This record gives sequence, structure tokens and C-alpha cells, in this order.
Amino acid sequence: MKLIIAYIQPEKLNDVKLNLAAADVGKMSVTNSLGCGQQGGYSTTYRGVDMDVNLLKKVRLEIAVNEEFVDPAVSAIIEGSRTGNIGDGKIFIVDLARCIRIRTGEEGNEAIG
Ligand SMILES: Nc1ncnc2c1ncn2[C@@H]1O[C@H](COP(=O)(O)OP(=O)(O)OP(=O)(O)O)[C@@H](O)[C@H]1O
Ligand SMILES: [Mg+2]
Repeated sequence: MKLIIAYIQPEKLNDVKLNLAAADVGKMSVTNSLGCGQQGGYSTTYRGVDMDVNLLKKVRLEIAVNEEFVDPAVSAIIEGSRTGNIGDGKIFIVDLARCIRIRTGEEGNEAIG
């Protein structure tokens, strides 16, 4: 099992969700987040004052999947969110040790799917 954590541009969420559904990935957690990548935000001028905007709005997706869904889910995220511009986002994939469905006590592959 893997946990896929993706940061994407908020306006790409709908396209990513549609692609995930087409890849038969329906369970996810979505939260608003603030972050910066290698550009460290950007500089702007507000009322004549230069200021750094260090944290930009992103959407964070967390998707726990069985192994066979990792590549389809990653492709769905990339195809739904890539524009080729800086700030398109980033995907982290981590090993998932356990998953427990609270209602039934099921664990692992049965609980995750
Ligand atoms: N190393 C990291 N650790 C934690 N979060 C990160 C990291 N890199 C990026 N993020 C998160 O991903 C979001 C999107 O990052 P972003 O797409 O700007 O990455 P990047 O490495 O700067 O690539 P690009 O040059 O294409 O912009 C950030 O706003 C931040 O929330
Ligand atoms: Mg960046």
C-alpha cells in the first residue's frame, strides 16, 4: 500500500478528480494548503510597497491505494494538473504501513479499497 500526497493548483482539482474517477480511484482526502516550492513564492508590489508572498494557495490530495493503483493514480494527477508552468505541483509517494476501517475492523487491502 502507498500513500500518494499531491500538491496541485486549486483550479486543477476538478480535472484531477475526473481523471482519478476514470482510473477507478474514488477515495481521497482534499484540503486547502499553503506552500512554496523552489521559487520560494514571488514578489509583488502592494500600494507601492514591495513585498514577498512566500506561501501560495495549493490543494493537497491524500490518496491511499493498493500497489496496482499507484501508477494510474499518479498519471491521472499529472495529466489533470500539468500546464508546463512553474508551480504546477508535486507528488510524494510513501509506503503505507497500515490501514484500518473503523466500522468493521478490516485491515490492509480490504480496508483501503
Ligand atoms: N520539497 C517539498 N516539501 C514539501 N512540500 C513541497 C516541496 N516542494 C513543493 N512542495 C509543495 O508543492 C507545492 C507546489 O510546488 P511547485 O510546483 O512550486 O514545486 P517546484 O519544485 O517549485 O517546481 P516548479 O519549478 O515546477 O515550480 C508547493 O507550494 C508546496 O506546497
Ligand atoms: Mg515552484
